[in-house]
Amino acid sequence: MTEQKTFYITTPIYYPSDKLHIGHAYTTVASDAMTRYKKQRGYDAYFLTGTDEHGQKIQQRAAEAGQTPKEFVDGIVAGIKSLWELLDIQYDDFIRTTDERHEQVVQQLFQKIYDQGDIYKSEYSGWYCTPCETFFTERQLAEGHVCPDCGRPVQLAQEESYFFKMSKYADRWLEFIDANPDFIQPESRRNEMISFVKQGLEDLCVSRTTFDWGIKVPFDTKHVVYVWFDALVNYISALGYGSDNDEKFRKYWPADVHLMAKDIIRFHSIIWPIILMAAGIELPKKVVAHGWLLMQDGKMSKSKGNVVDPVVLAEKYGVDAIRFFLLREMAYGMDANYSEEALINCINIDLANDYGNLLSRTTAMVDKFLGGVIEPGTEGTEFDADLLALAAATPENMAKYMDKMDAANAVAEVWKLVARANKYVDETAPWALNKNGETEKLKTVMYNLAEVLRQVTILISPVMPHVADKVWAQLGLTAETAGSDWTALGWGGFPAGTKIQRGEPIFPRIDAEEALKQSAEAAAEAEVDAESEAAVEYLPIKPEITIEDFEKIDLRVCKVVAAEKIKKADKLLKLTVELCGEQRTVVSGIAMKYAPEDLVGKQLIIVANLKPVKLRGVESHGMILAASLGEDMQVVEAPCTILPGGEVR
Ligand code: ME8
Ligand code: MG
Repeated sequence: MTEQKTFYITTPIYYPSDKLHIGHAYTTVASDAMTRYKKQRGYDAYFLTGTDEHGQKIQQRAAEAGQTPKEFVDGIVAGIKSLWELLDIQYDDFIRTTDERHEQVVQQLFQKIYDQGDIYKSEYSGWYCTPCETFFTERQLAEGHVCPDCGRPVQLAQEESYFFKMSKYADRWLEFIDANPDFIQPESRRNEMISFVKQGLEDLCVSRTTFDWGIKVPFDTKHVVYVWFDALVNYISALGYGSDNDEKFRKYWPADVHLMAKDIIRFHSIIWPIILMAAGIELPKKVVAHGWLLMQDGKMSKSKGNVVDPVVLAEKYGVDAIRFFLLREMAYGMDANYSEEALINCINIDLANDYGNLLSRTTAMVDKFLGGVIEPGTEGTEFDADLLALAAATPENMAKYMDKMDAANAVAEVWKLVARANKYVDETAPWALNKNGETEKLKTVMYNLAEVLRQVTILISPVMPHVADKVWAQLGLTAETAGSDWTALGWGGFPAGTKIQRGEPIFPRIDAEEALKQSAEAAAEAEVDAESEAAVEYLPIKPEITIEDFEKIDLRVCKVVAAEKIKKADKLLKLTVELCGEQRTVVSGIAMKYAPEDLVGKQLIIVANLKPVKLRGVESHGMILAASLGEDMQVVEAPCTILPGGEVR
C-alpha cells in the first residue's frame, strides 16, 4: 500500500479584537478551497486556523470593554467560529493561543532556546507600535518617530526584557533562502525579505514586563512572552509538538503552506524560520503572501462595517457567490479593490451569464429537442475535437495555478472552458441541427455540453461547495453518479441515458440598482445606531493651546495629481499634490484604506509648513489630514470650489 500524501495548510490566527470584515475572510476561504482541492486529488489534507489572543492590544480592548481579557476574547472567538461555519470553512482544528496545549509548547520552546543560550536578559529601550504589536529600533523608525509600517505614532518602551539572538542566524537564514528559492512567494516579497535581512538583523525582544496578558516566561514569571513569539508557535502546538501525543506533528509537519496577507510576511518568513532553526525543527515548505482587499470607503468603521460584513453579504448573495468572488477577484500577490458593484458584476457575468446560463440553455434544449434524455449520438461535429481537447487540458491548467496558491488564475482556467462551451453552442447551433433532423449530431452536442458541465462543476466545487448539489439535481445526477474527485474527470463519465430535471437558474441575476440601494439604506441605519451607541472610545482632548499656537499651523487645500505605492512600505502612499501653483511630494500612511487611483483628483487638506521628514527614503513635505476613530480612518476632503492653495482655518 502506498502511503497517502499529506498537505498541511494554515491561515494566520486572527486577533479577536475587531469585527472580521470581508477582507479577513479571503485567507480563510482560499485556504479552505485549497484544502478541498487537495482532498479531491487524493491528499490527506489538514487545515488549521485559530485566534491570537494575548498581548497589549487585546488587554487594552478588554479593559475598555470592562471585561477580563479572557471574557472579552471568548465572546469574539465564538463569533469568528460561527462566521467560518457560515462560509462553509471546514477547518480540521481551531487553535486558540489561550489553550493549555499551546501555552505549554510556547513555554517549552522558550525554555529550550534560553537553555542553549540563544535567549538572554537585557534592558529593552526602543519603540513599540501597539496596533501592529511590533518593536522598532531607532534605526528602523521612520523619521518623525512613527511606525514605518503604518505611519502611526509609536510608544517608547523601556523595560527589562529577554532577547532572542536573531542576529546569530542571519547567515543561516540567507543560505536557506538561497537553497530554497520558492520558500517565500511571490518573488517580490522574497526579494524584500532578503534585502531586509541583508541590512542587518537585530536581536528580537521576546518578552514584556509592563503588562501581564500573555504566557509567562517559565523561569522568570514577571515576564510574559512577546505576542508574536507566542502566536507563531501555534502552527506546531496545534499538531501536538512536544506533547505525549505528537502523532499529527510527525505526520503533517513541515507545513506545506503558511498563507497570509503581505503585512505579516516578515514575521512568517524571517522570525518564524529562525525560531525553528534555533529549536532544531524543520522549516515549513512555503510562505505565501497575498494582497489586501481594499475597502473603498475606509476599512472597518462600525457604520460602514455593515456593508462589508461577511454575514450580511452571505445572506444577501449566497455563500458560494461570495467565495467565488473573493478568489476570482484577488490577482496573485496583488491588492484588489472591494466594492459591492464588483461583487454584483461578478455574479451577473461569471456566474449567471456564463456558468448558470450554460446549464439553463443545455437543460432547456435537452428537454425540448431530446425529450430530456442525455445520451451521445453516433455522429459528431467538426467542433467537438477542440472542445474535448480543452476539457482534457483544463484540470492540469487549473492545477498549475492552484499548486502555487494562485486561485484567481486557477478559476480563470476553468472559466475558459465555460466560455469555450458557450461558444460551442453558437458554433454547433443545436436548434438548427434539430430543425434539420440531424438527431445523432444533436445528441452528441448535448452530451458534450452536459459532460463539460459535469467536469466544470467538479473542478469548481472546492471554491463553491454548494453548487454541485444544485447542478446535479438539474442534470439528473447525484454525487455518486457524477463523481466528486479528480478520478471522476475522465471524459465520458456522464452516465448515458440520464434523464434531466430542469430547474430555476442556479445564479439568478441581481438587480444592481436595487441591491445597492438596499445596502445604502442599511448603512445609513447602522450609522444612526452607531452614533447612539455609547461604546465609542474617544481619545482625550489635548492640553489647551493659544490662538497664536494654532496660527503657526498653515493648513491648505491641495489637489492630488499623482499617487503611488511606496516600495517596502505597505501602508504608505507617495502623493504628488498641487497647491499655490506648484507641486510637492507628501507621504501619507493611508495605503490600507485607499488605492492610489482612488485619490487622484481629490482635493485634500495639507499641513503645508511642516518640517520635511524622510519616510522610507521618500522626503515628505507636509502631512495630509485624515479623520479617525479607533481603527477607522478617512482622509478629509476639501471643497472642490476652493482652488488648491486656499487656506483652511
Ligand atoms: O496579523 N485583505 O492577525 P489579524 C486581505 N494575529 N486579507 C486580510 C485583510 C484584507 N483587507 N485584513 C485581514 C494578525 N486579512 C496576527 C497573525 S499569525 C501567527 C498571527 C487577513 O487579525 C490576512 O490573512 O490582523 C492577514 O494576514 C490576517 O487577516 C491578519 O489578521
Ligand atoms: Mg492586522
